[in-house]
Amino acid sequence: MENLTTLNPTQFEQLCTWSITQLTPLVDTLHRGLSQANMEWLSGHLLKLVQRANARLPENDYQILLTAVADEVIGYGPIGEYLRDPSVSEVMVNGALQIYIERKGKLVETETRYKDEAAVTRAAENIVLPLGRKVDRSQPLVDARLPDGSRVNVIIPPCALNGVTITIRKFPSKRLTVEDLIGFGSLTTQAAEFLKACVATRLNIIVSGGTGSGKTTLLNVISSFIPTDERICTVEDSAELQLSQPHVVRLETAPALPDGSGLISIRDLVRNALRMRPERIVVGEVRGGEALDMLQAMNTGHDGSLATVHANTPRDAVARLETLVLMAGFDLPVHVIRAQIAAAVHLIVQQERMRDGSRKITRITELQGLEGENVVLQDIFLFQATALSNNDKVEGALKPTGIRPSFTPRLERAGFKLSGAIFGAGTLDPIGQQGRRK
Ligand SMILES: Nc1ncnc2c1ncn2[C@@H]1O[C@H](COP(=O)(O)OP(=O)(O)OP(=O)(O)O)[C@@H](O)[C@H]1O
Ligand SMILES: [Mg+2]
Repeated sequence: MENLTTLNPTQFEQLCTWSITQLTPLVDTLHRGLSQANMEWLSGHLLKLVQRANARLPENDYQILLTAVADEVIGYGPIGEYLRDPSVSEVMVNGALQIYIERKGKLVETETRYKDEAAVTRAAENIVLPLGRKVDRSQPLVDARLPDGSRVNVIIPPCALNGVTITIRKFPSKRLTVEDLIGFGSLTTQAAEFLKACVATRLNIIVSGGTGSGKTTLLNVISSFIPTDERICTVEDSAELQLSQPHVVRLETAPALPDGSGLISIRDLVRNALRMRPERIVVGEVRGGEALDMLQAMNTGHDGSLATVHANTPRDAVARLETLVLMAGFDLPVHVIRAQIAAAVHLIVQQERMRDGSRKITRITELQGLEGENVVLQDIFLFQATALSNNDKVEGALKPTGIRPSFTPRLERAGFKLSGAIFGAGTLDPIGQQGRRK
């Protein structure tokens, strides 16, 4: 015991590097990834190395050493620190030499680098191999999930020209609540109250938005308005929704097995969900032929369904749904599809990522039916930007247009007598007719 050496920072670094060199060759496929069991396995070996080095390490320093070694040997390399940092929401690795993160809604390049391309490849394998998948020339793109639920995409050369490219959307430890969104100015109390009534009244609602605009977060918040006594089926590519109701059945797509069998798509799951006596179906993102199944379900008694689509305006969302319905493989005339959309979808909630990094609901728009060949859209709430403040923050508010939705009687029959104030009555500047869009 007497000969133990207390390490200075340089010696600590050296011990770390030496441990990594010693332990890396021991790692087989079984021990890749940061599972609890792998951490224990690694710690067992690391303790022996620390003893061999005659190093005196207080418990705290040992934990730091273990974390650093685990990141390199069985984990995801230097991005480990960002994955542990709750203020970081996304991590993007564009080859060994460029790593971006999103923090507080803003993209920033970090100083961090991988040692070389082999090190990023190793990190990518440590993500994918524990799932029984592989990433190589035969399968250069992979969607996966980290043990904590974070969503990962890996793409490698020759398809990725920057080198191994890893994109991670971190799983939030706590999903944002409606109170959080109101606090951030993403929507107002009035708009929240309106959406709550619409969900309880079983209207069909589509959340529309661009990449990373907060669609899933908003879908989660809107789904939280579903009464607790209903049976909810969620269908997702990567299970991200966190519903607090007691009766939730969660379905997730499955990738194909190496022999090409076993692929289960969102469409397969939506069709299956319809046979599971759902009272609500919540679809993470409609991105294919399932749009037709959803619309048919909404039109045949499965009302109260919720989904997101990738689109930049409510008008685009309607066009996107049209395109997606065609992907179901039936040659339906456009006016038939539009009639289905207009009859099925009651409301589109448009979410945007603003240039200051904040996310805001910019429109809550009613689908009022068909006029000729066109779906009639009526904004009920509309975001009005006032100005960019000094610190580049987007200022403004989601305001009622002053127009009550045509389904107001339905809300009232369900017991929601929403006060005129929600729709702008009594305020001096409801947006009024200028909010109308055809
Ligand atoms: N209203 C909001 N205010 C601030 N941050 C938000 C808000 N909504 C979402 N976020 C944050 O933005 C990021 C993206 O959110 P989310 O995953 O919901 O977006 P998305 O549109 O579903 O993305 P994708 O297109 O990749 O599926 C997350 O880090 C989330 O915490
Ligand atoms: Mg999403």
